[in-house]
Amino acid sequence: MKFFIDTANLAQIQEAHDLGILDGVTTNPSLMAKEGIVGDAAVLQHYKTICEMVDGDVSAEVISTDFAGMVAEGEKLAALHKNIVVKVPMIKEGIKAIAHFTKAGIRTNCTLVFSAGQAILAAKAGATYLSPFIGRLDDINWDGMQLIEDISDIYTIQGFQTQILAASVRTPLHIVQAAKAGADVVTCPLSAITGLLKHPLTDNGLAQFLADHAKANQG
Ligand code: E4P
Repeated sequence: MKFFIDTANLAQIQEAHDLGILDGVTTNPSLMAKEGIVGDAAVLQHYKTICEMVDGDVSAEVISTDFAGMVAEGEKLAALHKNIVVKVPMIKEGIKAIAHFTKAGIRTNCTLVFSAGQAILAAKAGATYLSPFIGRLDDINWDGMQLIEDISDIYTIQGFQTQILAASVRTPLHIVQAAKAGADVVTCPLSAITGLLKHPLTDNGLAQFLADHAKANQG
């Protein structure tokens, strides 16, 4: 399973990259705005900077909601760097754009996916990645993880090549559950990734080892 970080924050991207386990980055317009990245030139430059930091796929989202606008934006984004994946929303025009990008050899990430039906449509259009939003489903008392499991079953039965990118991950437990449910990729905040490290028995055990070593070697 690949690990992507879900942020536009360069310090957090660097910290995850330094762990040696980072396979890519996802962003969205809200994450870019949160970092104060505004205006076309600044946004494009930010994507370039991220691509230079991480040797892996970087999802860059289109803002247009019409086919022509998505195609124009997507082509501009894809031309920035070989690792850019054009992120397209799961709407009618988005499916048309994904099908177009697939034919043109431009890789895509279909975002804002909340149902198995949407997942089938995106795979038919040839999306490289599919982003079901686990956390936002959980927020409305729906079972986000069940959706990952259902899509994984369907893609296996049907032989679809689209990779399931579990998104809207909030906790380390989400990562573990997504791995069990068959996700090909998880994209998560840094806190969820580093949360995987935590176990009190590891901390207690290490403290004991170091104390015993110090005691045995003193004087
Ligand atoms: C990733 O591609 C999504 O944009 C992101 O995971 C959404 O996460 P959120 O629901 O925590 O905003």
